[in-house]
Amino acid sequence: MAFPIHRARRLRMSPTIRHMVRETALTPHDFILPLFVVGGSDAGTKKPIKSMPGCYHVSPDVAAQMAQEAHSVGIPGIILFGLPVRKDPYGSRAWADDGAVQRAAREIKAAQPEICVICDTCLCEYTDHGHCGVLKDCTVDNDATLELLAKTAVSQARAGADMVAPSDMMDGRVAAIRRALDENGFINKPIMSYAAKYASSFYGPFREAAECAPSFGDRRGYQMDPGNAREAIREVALDIEEGADIVIVKPALPYLDIIKITRDTFSVPVAGYQVSGEYAQIKGAAAIGLVDEISNMMESLTSIKRAGADMIITYFAIDAAKVLAHQM
Ligand code: PBG
Ligand code: ZN
Repeated sequence: MAFPIHRARRLRMSPTIRHMVRETALTPHDFILPLFVVGGSDAGTKKPIKSMPGCYHVSPDVAAQMAQEAHSVGIPGIILFGLPVRKDPYGSRAWADDGAVQRAAREIKAAQPEICVICDTCLCEYTDHGHCGVLKDCTVDNDATLELLAKTAVSQARAGADMVAPSDMMDGRVAAIRRALDENGFINKPIMSYAAKYASSFYGPFREAAECAPSFGDRRGYQMDPGNAREAIREVALDIEEGADIVIVKPALPYLDIIKITRDTFSVPVAGYQVSGEYAQIKGAAAIGLVDEISNMMESLTSIKRAGADMIITYFAIDAAKVLAHQM
């Protein structure tokens, strides 16, 4: 009936018109860049990570240089992960004042005070068994873990972190961290919580990069089941109630519906985390000529924003910012 009155193609006829009617456009301000900082590494260390081509294990001084570069292309934030000099059952290097993340946070803030330094708050990179909390009878002891996470967040805040980002999925961690930050005078440090974090096979390359694969079992006892969407609403609601200022949905592309319901249900800012496996798939497929890397990268990032993410944590942050700079 509508044809030929309505022709959707009229608004697709030129790049200019397509640009005018585009609903979702990326900017470098959308991105947060993850960095892997190695404790005890020599200054100047920048070692390629095998499982994540284009990503590196860096020393704190190189982290500061990369933060500078990120800032110079318009990226507002970075998120830090640490590889400690040694691991133990409690993950005590997580809250060490001279830990990798703490040293990097100090060096980055000294070199570039404007960039927002976010510290991932978890124990799995620091425990010798690789789980995100302390163990009791071979399972993660939720309540005993809270205190250690809170200590870690406070030590990160002391080192100059602008935000802390708990990724452990223990119950009650946001409240425990909020209380500890407040008691230590950090009433204005926001918490960006991994509120809907799924037990995902897409974390594989990261676990190699952060050397944090669990030595036994898996994380399904604390991370969410991939089949559940309504449960995400409950998880996000609880985190907001406990004091989360920003919520993360993770992974991003396989969970766009979760980003969308989170965005539609709540009014706090939402971050989508394009995780290591999403990144590695694009890199790997592009490397053997199956897809075009740049357009695959930009399309997947656009989709995450279109689904409702206010910010995107992505290993592509610098590459994508550079592409956008050329398009302006
Ligand atoms: C640690 C943590 C993980 C990621 C971020 N923080 C791994 C996991 O939970 O197993 C994954 C990030 C990625 O894959 O890019 N709690
Ligand atoms: Zn963890």
